[in-house]
This record gives sequence, C-alpha cells and structure tokens, in this order.
Amino acid sequence: MAGRIIFATGNAGKIKEINMIMQDMGMQVVSMKDAGIVIDIEENGTTYEENAMLKARAVAAYTDDIVMADDSGLEIDYLNKEPGVYSARYMGEDTSYRIKNANLIDRLEGVPDEKRTARFVCAIAAVLPDGTELHTRATIEGRIGYEERGANGFGFDPIFYVPEFGKTTAELSEEEKNQVSHRGKALELMKEELRKYEGINR
Ligand code: IMP
Repeated sequence: MAGRIIFATGNAGKIKEINMIMQDMGMQVVSMKDAGIVIDIEENGTTYEENAMLKARAVAAYTDDIVMADDSGLEIDYLNKEPGVYSARYMGEDTSYRIKNANLIDRLEGVPDEKRTARFVCAIAAVLPDGTELHTRATIEGRIGYEERGANGFGFDPIFYVPEFGKTTAELSEEEKNQVSHRGKALELMKEELRKYEGINR
C-alpha cells in the first residue's frame, strides 16, 4: 500500500512519532493542516473508540486519502479510571501538566504502591478510500508515582511509572517509548490491519 495517510491531529509531536512507526509501510503521514483540511472537530464521544472514529470520519469527508485518528487517555484505578476519556480536558486544557500531575499525586496521597495502578489507553481509527473502517486499541500498564520524574514525552508521562523499566515514560527515549506505549502498539496493530486489507485487495 503506497501513498499517504492524513492523521486527524494538530499535534506535530504525534505526527513525528507516527511517521517513525509507519516508516516501513512506505507511506507518508501528514497532518490534516498540511493536507489543507482545516476543520474543528468536537470530541464528544464517550469512549476512545467513538472519539477516534468521529475525528477520522470528519476528515475522510474531505479527502480520498487514507485517514487515521487516535484518542487516548490515562486511567487511574483508584480514581475510578479518571481522568480517562476526558484526559485532555482534565482541570482545563490551559492548565499546565505540572499542576495537573501534582493534583493527581495529591489525590493519591497515602495510597500504597499496589493500589496506584494505572494505564494509558489508545484507540486508533482509520477510514480507507473505499469507506472501510478499521479500529485498533492498546494499553500500557503502570503506576502513578510519588513525584514527577523525567523530561521526555508529554502530558502525564512524568508521573507514569513503568515497573518493568524502573522508569517513568518521561524517562524513556522516544524509541523506547514507541516500542511499548499504548500509541506505538495500537499503531503497530493498525499496520497489521492495513497489510491484511492490502492482501484482500490484491
Ligand atoms: P488526545 O488523545 O489527543 O485526545 O489526548 C489525550 C490526553 O491523554 C493527552 O492530552 C494527555 O493528557 C493524555 N495522554 C495520552 N497519551 C499520553 C502519553 O503518551 N503520555 C502522557 N499523557 C498522555
């Protein structure tokens, strides 16, 4: 499968990360802005899957290229899986992650290690030129730390501790994180889906 994929995001960091992962498909990933599609999409779904598909369909209406979108979030078990699907809006989009991360650490004050379990979840949706819709989902399991650690990544990475690495996802290199992250794994699964599709259509 050659050509390009339009990714329904305005986040340049995500495009870079996704291009690294999709490289071996021989496809170029461009943002909706770079494809000249400027629309505002309201993420009003109640699941990651719904939000991802909502974004992919909205952009697919403007192009015959493959469109992909993702939706992700952090689920903290002790907080009944908050902030979950509302992660991007937790405490307001303009509040800094230093403040959001400190707030979550405060809300887990006195909570022992084994009850600090959490996961990042990512759902990817794709709409193909013939209208076929594909979905994948993946997670990475971890624990909420006691302080921010690490300067890589973004968002909640400094408080997301992965026991296998003995590090937070903000202490992993970009390559290391891509190999184990929710988004990296969901994209790998989407690559497999696209390859299957290519096989069917040959
Ligand atoms: P969206 O998928 O762009 O709607 O954003 C989901 C939100 O979840 C982000 O704004 C972050 O707060 C959080 N999040 C998702 N993935 C990650 C990650 O890999 N590291 C840190 N935070 C993340």
